[in-house]
Amino acid sequence: MDIRIVKGDIASQEVDAIVVNLFEGVQQPGGATGAVDRALGGGLTQLIADGDVKGKSGEMVLVYTFGKIPAKRVVVAGLGKSDKFNVDAVRKVSADAARFVRRHNCKRATTIVHGAGIGGLEPRDAAQALAEGAIMGLYRFQRYKSSKKDDENDGELQELLVIEAMNERVPALEAGLNAGRIIAEATNLCRDLANIGGNDMAPVHLAEAAREMSERHGLDFRAFDKAEMEAMGMGALLAVAQGSAQEPRFITMRYNSPEARSDRPPVALIGKGVTFDSGGISIKQADGMENMKSDMSGGAAVIAAMSAIAQLRPPINVVGIVPAAENLPSATAYRPGDIVRASNGKTIEVVNTDAEGRMLLADAICWAKREGLSPLVDVATLTGACSVALGPFYSGIMANDQPLADKVIAAAKRAGELVWQLPLTDEYKELVKSDIADVRQTGTGRAGGAISAAQMLHAFAEDTPWAHLDIAPTYRSDRDRGALVKGPTGVAVRTLIAFTQMLADEE
Ligand code: BES
Ligand code: ZN
Ligand code: ZN
Repeated sequence: MDIRIVKGDIASQEVDAIVVNLFEGVQQPGGATGAVDRALGGGLTQLIADGDVKGKSGEMVLVYTFGKIPAKRVVVAGLGKSDKFNVDAVRKVSADAARFVRRHNCKRATTIVHGAGIGGLEPRDAAQALAEGAIMGLYRFQRYKSSKKDDENDGELQELLVIEAMNERVPALEAGLNAGRIIAEATNLCRDLANIGGNDMAPVHLAEAAREMSERHGLDFRAFDKAEMEAMGMGALLAVAQGSAQEPRFITMRYNSPEARSDRPPVALIGKGVTFDSGGISIKQADGMENMKSDMSGGAAVIAAMSAIAQLRPPINVVGIVPAAENLPSATAYRPGDIVRASNGKTIEVVNTDAEGRMLLADAICWAKREGLSPLVDVATLTGACSVALGPFYSGIMANDQPLADKVIAAAKRAGELVWQLPLTDEYKELVKSDIADVRQTGTGRAGGAISAAQMLHAFAEDTPWAHLDIAPTYRSDRDRGALVKGPTGVAVRTLIAFTQMLADEE
């Protein structure tokens, strides 16, 4: 879909639909909605008076214009209560409206920038949220569909024109739309990678996707193969990989800014890249196992965030790291009771082969520290226990450094993603104490499973500032919800991008 600014008068647009908006409780629409109302001879005011248009959040009312204006349809999108209005509401209404006009077979639509008028938001922020909502909300994964016509929605919205009457606001709107497009397309890249079947998304394929992205956007790409990982002593990652015929990869992508301060180390973004998680010898139940093709969602989020960072060019250096392996049971698989050595020399007592993500992340954290990177932020579909703790809306965050945790939480808020901090205080250290090795892979019971997983990672991060996002609760959505669509969500992409922008703003 093409999204761009047009200057001029909304009521004279020759498109399949015009999208205007209304706050809940407003009887007499102003701004662009008022202009369309006048062109329709007060038709919208009448619908409001009759109670057919209320302006409630999520409400979309379709009005046919029967030749009164060039556009065939007007959509009145509800903004909800004006005191609850913010950029998140813009993203949501933009996504809902884009899907609504597509469902009504519109190919070209004109929209106003929700929130930039009486909503009182900064035009740039409103335009960014508008683009994010539309591009993320229209996402569909059709790679494996032989015919794109068998869907209820067979058409595509091809053009979204964003109308602005005031010339002086155009540059800010352009900048917002451009950033929003970059960020939303990155999120959709993450969703694509997580949607692809596990047969087509082995570690080598994930590395190939990262290479393509890196070449397109000018990042330094390097992936280490199994022999190179052996040479580096990555025994934890390799233990997981040894059960699969698919070779592991250790993927790295570097973004270097000429404006970065030379006295600051590059930041590390680390993503779990388990391309399929069967559980291994500690095999999972069959129910829902198909979703474990997306157990590389953290890795995909890092690859996707790096693509946006390469385009937005913040003045800091960033290294994206994705340890990738497949977790299968076989005659060569690692076992509960194995004791393996990670690349920092620490030994791990394996307890449950389904706790494979932390094995990969342990070696990735060691590598990042050896490279001198700081701070470290990892993203992983790490524990079902995190979903039990938080339900399906929030990702968990745990950290060894509260200022860093606060920064990631602020970045998530700015990006419109929900994260909630869980404790990682010294009390929890005993959960991962082993009688016979340096670290126990898991806690002893099921209680506090998200925290014991983080504590195992903490044993590798040690004192290096590190924050861990457990996205097991949020990596998929069970239905369309605002900018999210049913399936992989691309969660954390926007948070990671906003986080690097915040670090850059501090400089
Ligand atoms: N990939 C899973 C966690 C997961 C489960 C993510 C469901 C998304 C949805 C992870 O590798 C895993 O299996 N964790 C175990 C840890 C346990 C064995 C200590 C879990 O959560 O049960
Ligand atoms: Zn697992
Ligand atoms: Zn897993």
